[in-house]
Amino acid sequence: MKISVIGAGYVGLTTAACLAQIGHDVFCSESDIEKLTKLQNGVMPLFEPYLEDVLRAGRKAGRLRFGSTEDAIAWGDAIFICVGTPPLPNGDADLSAIEGVARSIAKQASGYRLVIEKSTVPVQTGAQLQKHLSVHSRNGLTYDVASNPEFLREGSSVEDFLHPDRIVIGVDSPRAEDLLRQIYEPIISQRFACPVHSDCPTRKGPIFLATDTNSAELIKHASNSFLAMKISFINMVANLCEVVGADVTKVAQGMGLDPRIGSSFLNPGIGFGGFCFPKDVQAFIRIAEKSGCDFSLLKEVEKINQRRVEHFVEKIRKELWVLRGKKVAVWGLAFKPNTDDVRFAPSITLVKALLTEGVEVRAYDPEAIEKSRAVLPEVTYCADAYQAAEGADAIVIVTEWDEFRQMDWERLLSSVEQPLVIDGRNVFSPEEIRRQGFRYVSIGRVDALPWQPDAREKIDPSSLPADNSMHEIPA
Ligand SMILES: NC(=O)c1ccc[n+]([C@@H]2O[C@H](COP(=O)([O-])OP(=O)(O)OC[C@H]3O[C@@H](n4cnc5c(N)ncnc54)[C@H](O)[C@@H]3O)[C@@H](O)[C@H]2O)c1
Repeated sequence: MKISVIGAGYVGLTTAACLAQIGHDVFCSESDIEKLTKLQNGVMPLFEPYLEDVLRAGRKAGRLRFGSTEDAIAWGDAIFICVGTPPLPNGDADLSAIEGVARSIAKQASGYRLVIEKSTVPVQTGAQLQKHLSVHSRNGLTYDVASNPEFLREGSSVEDFLHPDRIVIGVDSPRAEDLLRQIYEPIISQRFACPVHSDCPTRKGPIFLATDTNSAELIKHASNSFLAMKISFINMVANLCEVVGADVTKVAQGMGLDPRIGSSFLNPGIGFGGFCFPKDVQAFIRIAEKSGCDFSLLKEVEKINQRRVEHFVEKIRKELWVLRGKKVAVWGLAFKPNTDDVRFAPSITLVKALLTEGVEVRAYDPEAIEKSRAVLPEVTYCADAYQAAEGADAIVIVTEWDEFRQMDWERLLSSVEQPLVIDGRNVFSPEEIRRQGFRYVSIGRVDALPWQPDAREKIDPSSLPADNSMHEIPA
């Protein structure tokens, strides 16, 4: 099918590349000229595992091209809108980019178009789009509007798009449902050449859930808000663990064994970030408010999340005493591993707070340095995690990149000012790091031994309490 994708960000680019991969003829547009030029020249404007290969394959097969939104509107029988919906100061989703695209479709397109909102939008946006298209159409346009919320995760977007657990569509006509089924048929039946695995033919296809448009729109906001709630919940449990001397890892494990709860999203840390959870929770709160529903539960979720970085800074302060003039190595800036995205990342709030306190921040991230520079110009960016740690009073782990699990701690021990690791993602077991001669502080675990004046002398592991007796260690 001839398909257009408007907006070549994390979602649009993945959608365009994967739809070409499964056999469609795709035209992807981007309004940011620098980004568009890069894409037209085969240069990646963002980092996402496997995406570059899929884009290259699509272009080589002649099934994927990039250009203007005007040309995209002329191209596709189905048009996926994948533009950004950032938060306005009052928490509402800013729908101006969506509105702009809808107006262009109405004015430029003729004949039939299936207009699909893939961007995350408030409930009833589909109805607004219908109205907008009808008011502004000029050339005998006929159309259906459908909602098709996207559940991919940055860092595994290609895999998530091609192997989703569910495809949700919101449609108000059989024609729209039929077209969307045709578009996704290769994914529903899992029949396509997979760029990620060699064994996918045996994989189970996704559930294809067709609802009305309003319900589909709500599914997306409700899902993200629920996941955010889980994170804030476990973060509060972590706070409690720190006070009463329990281990949040074990509490989460015990909770997650209950299939009604499940183990995912029970990892405590310095809070959720990224371009989805913070803004989607805010938007959902506003949707509820405007509908006269008191969803104060979500306000609490947001508040707990906002306090995470403050709580973490207090941990750093407790260890370093005076912050002014201290050198802190920040490992990880992206809001999660395997992406270069720093939008609403906790790292940004944390680094800003440290800089305000007069800390010298030396940061390293495998992929996100370029994007961080634009928002945090005062930071010293380092070529690797070792360089960041040179002369540091503390190594602070903010993003749980895999490479941080493979560090040479002996080398680090000889280059830091103080052997101290403050881990915002519980990457390590306390014992593991203490065995390397470092003092270790993490989230929701009573893991720091009382300060040892000469921690550079490696601790004899046999002198440490067994992991399961952490509660016996004085805080
Ligand atoms: N990032 C995620 O993990 C994720 C996951 C699911 C859903 N979403 C939702 O998908 C939407 C897009 O998110 P994203 O992360 O891809 O955002 P993004 O900012 O990376 O991409 C949006 C792109 O659209 C472009 N754009 C804006 N107006 C345009 C126009 N008129 N014509 C062509 N291009 C235009 C922008 O320049 C930008 O490159 C948002 O609503 C988001 O909430 C995001």
